[in-house]
Amino acid sequence: MKQCKKYSKPENKKYLNILFETACAEFGSALEMLKACKDSNQENLACGYFEHAKDEYEHTKTFLSILSKFGKLANSDISRNFRFSSNAVLSKGYVSGDGYLIETMKIKDFIAYVYTNELLAKESFDGILKLLKEHPKEAFQISQIMKDELRHHGLAEKYFLKYYPRLQPWQLMLYRLRETVKNKGRKFYDKNLKFLDKVLKPVYYFMAYLVGKTLSIMDSQQFNRKGKNLMEINSKSVI
Ligand SMILES: [Fe+2]
Ligand SMILES: [Fe+2]
Repeated sequence: MKQCKKYSKPENKKYLNILFETACAEFGSALEMLKACKDSNQENLACGYFEHAKDEYEHTKTFLSILSKFGKLANSDISRNFRFSSNAVLSKGYVSGDGYLIETMKIKDFIAYVYTNELLAKESFDGILKLLKEHPKEAFQISQIMKDELRHHGLAEKYFLKYYPRLQPWQLMLYRLRETVKNKGRKFYDKNLKFLDKVLKPVYYFMAYLVGKTLSIMDSQQFNRKGKNLMEINSKSVI
């Protein structure tokens, strides 16, 4: 009961938000990897992408299960904002509406993307681990995911060294910088969207109220055209 009280506090939003965003990011990665697997014409590579997709689906499942556990302890007014839907992956920009990365990027850039993002994912999980330090079971689950992310990073690095041995470390640094900026841009976009939602929500409610009020005043019977000669109705009439 004491724990319920603690989680019911509004600051619990911070936990839910991070878990929700990470679940979306993991699901986005799973879709990207699955698409890469489907499009690959090399058996080894397809197999690698498939295993990677499987891991990312597992990570999504883990984050959603923690989200569900914490969400149940939070106030329903808060937790209802963190219901997972696969559409969120698209609207939040974790998967682009222009197509999957394997379709829009050169293969070299795609592997660089995987290489840098897996490392960035591992780093962001360091922050989540700190946040969950009072929840050893969940922290252990996250630490297991971090091992996977480092393995993914290592595999992408291996691929790089094999096929692009002349790639310089500074080039990878550039890839990493680009992805960091992109991630920050997505967070900025998401924050602005939330801000606009807050500002516009009262306007939507007011408009809905006005429409409801107008309809309640109007006599809906006059909209009934049954038995009326439609030719006699004024063409400018709304009826
Ligand atoms: Fe992952
Ligand atoms: Fe990963």
